Amino acid sequence: MTDYTHVIDGLHGRKIVLGVTGGIAAYKAAELTRRLKHIGADVHVVLTEAGTRFVTPLTFQALSGNPAWVGLWEGETKNAMPHISLGRGTDALLVAPASAGFIAKLASGLADDLLATLCLARDCPLLVAPAMNRQMWQNPATQRNVATLKADGVTFLGPAEGEQACGETGLGRMLEPDALCDALLSFFTPKLLAGRKVVLTAGPTFEAIDPVRGITNCSSGKMGYALATACARAGAKVILISGPVHLPTPAGVRRINTLSALSMRDAVLEAIPGADVFIAVAAVADYRPVVSSEHKIKKSDAAIHFELVPNPDILAEIAAQPKAPFCVGFAAESRELDNYAEGKRRAKRLPMLVGNLLEDGLGGNENTVVIYDNEGRHPLPRAPKTFIARQIVEHIARLLPSFPSP
Ligand SMILES: Cc1cc2nc3c(=O)[nH]c(=O)nc-3n(C[C@H](O)[C@H](O)[C@H](O)COP(=O)(O)O)c2cc1C
Repeated sequence: MTDYTHVIDGLHGRKIVLGVTGGIAAYKAAELTRRLKHIGADVHVVLTEAGTRFVTPLTFQALSGNPAWVGLWEGETKNAMPHISLGRGTDALLVAPASAGFIAKLASGLADDLLATLCLARDCPLLVAPAMNRQMWQNPATQRNVATLKADGVTFLGPAEGEQACGETGLGRMLEPDALCDALLSFFTPKLLAGRKVVLTAGPTFEAIDPVRGITNCSSGKMGYALATACARAGAKVILISGPVHLPTPAGVRRINTLSALSMRDAVLEAIPGADVFIAVAAVADYRPVVSSEHKIKKSDAAIHFELVPNPDILAEIAAQPKAPFCVGFAAESRELDNYAEGKRRAKRLPMLVGNLLEDGLGGNENTVVIYDNEGRHPLPRAPKTFIARQIVEHIARLLPSFPSP
């Protein structure tokens, strides 16, 4: 059995020091603290004096579950040297929002408050999420400071473009808390698929009966989207060919929307040249109506019959290509998982297949899966789909080097 105990779920076990400076986006730092905690991080907040004008330390203390720090001299009673000890064992220092003034301070190496001193004394990566009016951002002095910090190895997250608190529109907004969490997760993910192109399918297909009705299934797309996210975080160039789902497009992923099995097949065939990996997670309808009525079928008392024809097997078709990418299949079975899943893997000559026993139907946030490959079966413990996705990516990355390149 393959051991994946080294794979970390989210930011579990990571200590993050969050610096909050005096910008209006400080109100979003409260939500960011909550979300970082939610994905497992141990969050310690340090505010500048100006930061406390926007949100109180008490808010951050309550949300993080740790004392929130402001002054350089508070340590006299609580902690001998907070500017040193707070940084110990820290995995990353994230300043969000970072004001123009604070960026200038960082660039010149000033250490006149706790947060700036902590940044200077750090022994961990520093990530900065600027938040300011567009003119402050465009000012040559700010741009000079940003270039200096980038040259010093500081990572910038954003800023984003859009409406600003001052009423103007432009570049300078802080990235949203979700995007910052995502960036942090990416930052910590080993780049196991760097330089690789991955094509995935996800979600259900919709086989039209008439313009307003069709045959579909309960696939939520969550597993496929989690895998697309995990591949992108692992450094791959990702094309996600999606059936109809209500999920946001993962960061750094190119998404192509499709509806029917036939349109999904067309999109896959177009995307696949040059792909190193093809992961077929979509629940493609096995059959489609022979004809789809051009007009809405009117209700009547008579029984109605549809003739169904089999849809093409997209995965089998790609796996049979002369220079096929590394193909990963998915099988959801309601019984005899080992038999059916391994049978499917062998029939389609797949190097890897992920099987899951449908214990609680489709659409949940957790899954129990077994990976099948030429070495045998590798059961993974029940876990959130996001975590399962990371383990699947690890498994793909482990097998990929011994697979003939396409
Ligand atoms: C209402 C208000 C909103 C502000 N918003 C921002 C901002 O979004 N970005 C920024 O760089 N400065 C902003 N400032 C200016 C900073 O608060 C000021 O430069 C301060 O000295 C920054 O201190 P710090 O970097 O130590 O936190 C704002 C000031 C006020 C009064």
